[in-house]
Amino acid sequence: MFKIIWKKEYNTNVREIDEQHQHLVHLINVLLAERAKGESPAALKKILVEIIDYTKYHFKTEEEHMVRHQYEHLEEHKANHRTLVDQIVALLNELKGGKSLSSEDLLTILRNWLINHIEKEDLKYSMFLGQAKRVIS
Ligand SMILES: [Fe+2]
Repeated sequence: MFKIIWKKEYNTNVREIDEQHQHLVHLINVLLAERAKGESPAALKKILVEIIDYTKYHFKTEEEHMVRHQYEHLEEHKANHRTLVDQIVALLNELKGGKSLSSEDLLTILRNWLINHIEKEDLKYSMFLGQAKRVIS
């Protein structure tokens, strides 16, 4: 079964952010597992709502962290977060509209959506902090 495995390359080395990223990956894996088991659209919607809520909470944490550390690309990163939330909310609306969640939709969530963001944008922030090795809170 398709599952995201956490890789060390995803680490920003900011403990709180990494823990939240891992929880998000866990939630997405739950969604994948439920879909594979053939769970009802209602069950999938429920987990997608949980993913959206946790994502919003997580982005808020990241943005607060970035404000504290005066991140130079804060506005750009925030805009990026807004786009990501819009994309997943659009996915939820499609589900609500009766569309089933295709493998392609799920791949969008996995690759383009979360992992790309973590690997590119969040890592840029980690580099800005100079956190290549050190773990901070
Ligand atoms: Fe981010």
